[in-house]
Amino acid sequence: MSRKFNFWMVVIIIALSATENSDGKLIMEGSIGLIDGFRTLTNTNKHAYGQAFEEDPLPFKNPIDGTVTSFSITFFFAIVPEHRHKGSHGMAFVISPTRGIPGAFADQYLGIFNDTNNGKSSNHVIAVELDIHKDDEFGDIDDNHVGININGMKSNVSAPAGYYDPNGQFKNLSLISGNLLRVTILYSQKEKQLSVTLSPAEEANIPKRPLLLLSQDLSPYLLEEMYVGFAASTGAVGAIHYMWMWHVSLSLAVPNLDFPIPTFPRYPNADSQVKRIVLVTCLTLAIFVALAASALSLFYYRKHKKVKEVLEEWEIQCGPHRFDYKELFKATKGFKDKQLLGKGGFGQVFKGTLPGSDAEIAVKKISHDSRQGMQEFLAEISTIGRLRHPNLVRLQGYCRYKEELYLVYDFMPNGSLDKYLYRRANQEKLTWGQRFKIIKDVASALCYLHHEWVQIVIHRDIKPANILVDDEMNARLGDFGLAKLYDQGYDPQTSRVAGTIGYIAPELVRSGRATTGTDVYAFGLFMLEVSCGRRLIEPRAEANEVVLVEWTLDRWENGDIIEAANERPSGEHNREQLELVLKLGVLCSHQVAAIRPAMSKVVQILDGDLQLPKNLLDSVKFEKVRMLSETSERFLDVLTSQGSIGTLTFTEPFTSQGR
Ligand SMILES: *[C@@H]1O[C@H](CO)[C@@H](O)[C@H](O)[C@H]1NC(C)=O
Ligand SMILES: *[C@@H]1O[C@H](CO)[C@@H](O)[C@H](O)[C@H]1NC(C)=O
Ligand SMILES: *[C@@H]1O[C@H](CO)[C@@H](O)[C@H](O)[C@H]1NC(C)=O
Repeated sequence: MSRKFNFWMVVIIIALSATENSDGKLIMEGSIGLIDGFRTLTNTNKHAYGQAFEEDPLPFKNPIDGTVTSFSITFFFAIVPEHRHKGSHGMAFVISPTRGIPGAFADQYLGIFNDTNNGKSSNHVIAVELDIHKDDEFGDIDDNHVGININGMKSNVSAPAGYYDPNGQFKNLSLISGNLLRVTILYSQKEKQLSVTLSPAEEANIPKRPLLLLSQDLSPYLLEEMYVGFAASTGAVGAIHYMWMWHVSLSLAVPNLDFPIPTFPRYPNADSQVKRIVLVTCLTLAIFVALAASALSLFYYRKHKKVKEVLEEWEIQCGPHRFDYKELFKATKGFKDKQLLGKGGFGQVFKGTLPGSDAEIAVKKISHDSRQGMQEFLAEISTIGRLRHPNLVRLQGYCRYKEELYLVYDFMPNGSLDKYLYRRANQEKLTWGQRFKIIKDVASALCYLHHEWVQIVIHRDIKPANILVDDEMNARLGDFGLAKLYDQGYDPQTSRVAGTIGYIAPELVRSGRATTGTDVYAFGLFMLEVSCGRRLIEPRAEANEVVLVEWTLDRWENGDIIEAANERPSGEHNREQLELVLKLGVLCSHQVAAIRPAMSKVVQILDGDLQLPKNLLDSVKFEKVRMLSETSERFLDVLTSQGSIGTLTFTEPFTSQGR
């Protein structure tokens, strides 16, 4: 890499703070455990500690001017003590310069520090402790407190565990109740303030007034790249520390959460031999009864020529509504051709009306030959089914019958966006205002999937055919996560990746790994397509106009980027918007993933809350020259080996929902 390249890359990353990422792996170490399928930071070992860290570091600090980014961390945990009112020692959320903390001590050190490094400014460790033991040497206030610790076990601020209800009343909470609790940690870069809020998991809204507030500039403590993770320890008395879920974002966005609250197992009891014998006897009996019952029911079903629907364990626990096959069969009039709305690589889509109501639905029928991929995908539906955003097509539920999977969505009478973009004969033209709104709608949905939900959801197949419009021309993103079904068994030899050709980011072809960055790439092209009103590739156009993104860059270099659009909107304001969208489109679909902004930044730019960096064109151009010698050539090889560019798709997910 040349110096110049490095420099520009850095400039853009600062301007847009590109990377937000926590879809990496979790590295677990020490006395960790798994109890009834729940991940724990500690097991029944005494005087032991466990740690769990995200594999990849996060860019907490701008390497040039040293400013720290704002951040928002939410996590859910539960602590089950060995004895009813007693356990030790507690746990902590940690931001650390290393992945995991080597040489840490258990007991009162919570698996974060040891007696030599405790309190040293060279640690660069920021922790939020949930302490269930009173250690006088560290000035602990009680045996049930929350504290913010910088570089040592002595808390800078601490308070008894609890929260302020909407009336401002303080309510006690016990950290060792075994109930799921939520912690929200926010750092505002502007106010230089770190706040910590504890609340019961059932409370939908986090308390307005935080439990802890520390006014302190974190820049001396944070390094450019830091790892985030958790640590917990036990002492003479044990405690199980359950980790449920967490969300890390380099912005102040606090995710909205809605999920069934789990009940955690009690402390594994070693000395209850008697109980165990009773349990084994009961289990044997139960298995016997179950066997007899299933034999009976099998007999019953055979006799009635019925096929039982397979019910997975996770389906019982949580997840979206499960429809009855008979119900869907009736709704779609037996999946008749007349009800067919569209067809694609993922299967067919039927229109239906649920029996006993006027509610119209779209039913996607997915056949899949690889059972393994299906299995993993099924597990993902429980995630997809819980996503809620006005610009996402809502998944109402699903049904699994024989080898087929049926997904039930809200019906969108206006069909998909591609119909409006490449309009035929008498289709009405979209105004610039409508186009801009559609772009903003999709950006906001994608930002939700990437940054605002508990987990990062990658769409994997952004394109006009997957955007549906409602009767008020609001855009809704559909088919999220579906491409994952085809992402299994990636083979670099054949470069088979899920997605649609032309929208697949170059690094995805190389690595086969979809990321938020590969979604941003596709979204950039989508923006160009919607604002210019033409396809990404027009084989019949003049040579320099064939590839839309290159044509746009060409016009930009020529001094008037708006020429790339088929029509110039009237009004100065509209033209400025168009110019912004085109530049942003080129930036998002940049070959170098690090240059693409995160969706949260894209939304801010579209809303006018953030400016595009100056001299953007120079850096974009410079990168273009460099990239031509590397990846893009390989990328083009792949494209051309697939036949005509742009028309061939690897997997063509359901395209038009219109008639
Ligand atoms: C304390 O921790 C530091 C840093 O993690 C480590 O280098 C050191 O060896 C540890 N000291 C002891 C006594 O274990
Ligand atoms: C918090 O602790 C760190 C490390 O001891 C110290 O440098 C800092 O000044 C403390 N801040 C406050 C507000 O007490
Ligand atoms: C909350 O806990 C504190 C300390 O344990 C105790 O003094 C206080 O009475 C408790 N308040 C309520 C409302 O239970």
